[in-house]
Amino acid sequence: MQNSIIDLDKLHTTELGEVRIKRNLSIQADDVVLWCKEFVKQADIIIGQGKNLYAYKNGVVITINAKSNTIITAHPINAKVRLMRTSDYLCLPEFLYQAIFIPEGVEPPYRSMVNHPQIFVYIKDFGTRPGDLGVVAESKGRVIGAAWTRIIHAYGHINDETPELAISLLPEFRGYGIGTKLMKKLFGVLRANGYVQTSLSVQKDNPAIEFYKRLGYRIVEEKLDHEGNEDFIMIKKLK
Ligand SMILES: CC(C)(COP(=O)(O)OP(=O)(O)OC[C@H]1O[C@@H](n2cnc3c(N)ncnc32)[C@H](O)[C@@H]1OP(=O)(O)O)[C@@H](O)C(=O)NCCC(=O)NCCS
Repeated sequence: MQNSIIDLDKLHTTELGEVRIKRNLSIQADDVVLWCKEFVKQADIIIGQGKNLYAYKNGVVITINAKSNTIITAHPINAKVRLMRTSDYLCLPEFLYQAIFIPEGVEPPYRSMVNHPQIFVYIKDFGTRPGDLGVVAESKGRVIGAAWTRIIHAYGHINDETPELAISLLPEFRGYGIGTKLMKKLFGVLRANGYVQTSLSVQKDNPAIEFYKRLGYRIVEEKLDHEGNEDFIMIKKLK
């Protein structure tokens, strides 16, 4: 809950705003402003961007004009997926960190864990090697997810012609189809660059395995990683 930057008492909307919010979210609430106040109170995250504040929860984003406290609109999160740019490389440590699997009830690892050589190899000097390809998802001008490949001797290495994939989204954006969009876009980029398959490594307990299977990955090997975790190596044929 992060409502301290919005003055809930001053929140209001216009007639048009009310119509837009009801239509976009298919809600029947009698008092849309009250509905939005409750939403903002419970929001997972509230972000200021330009003149607006964006409150996120359950795959929905509410847009509020920060100065006037007007609720402008609300709609399901809709991320734009595009090629990774050089300027996006700065986000890679964050998405590498977010890609680390944290089983339920386990404390998140220190951020510095990404500096471990066997992990850092996924982003070190990204953009300088053949097979360094990436896509990002952007919401309200902010990069909220990334998927990228490299040909490196890391956990999911198969051979020197098979780029290994890594993917993650910021936690509040998971489970709304954005990861699927990122993967499909990246498969297209890989095909366009002449690659015929892509690999990855995933911990056996990670629910992402089902996500990968749905996207056409098959388990080809089981391995232990440097911490003794059991991993599956998976391959997706691109033809
Ligand atoms: C894995 C991940 C990229 C999928 O993207 P997404 O947008 O959440 O996925 P989609 O909405 O397109 O597809 C939903 C599927 O993703 C998987 N998924 C959803 N939330 C997840 C989460 N928090 N962690 C892992 N996988 C998740 C599930 O298989 C889900 O299928 P289900 O709805 O039938 O349970 C994203 O959830 C994520 O960043 N997870 C944490 C990082 C991670 O595990 N990366 C992979 C390391 S190998």
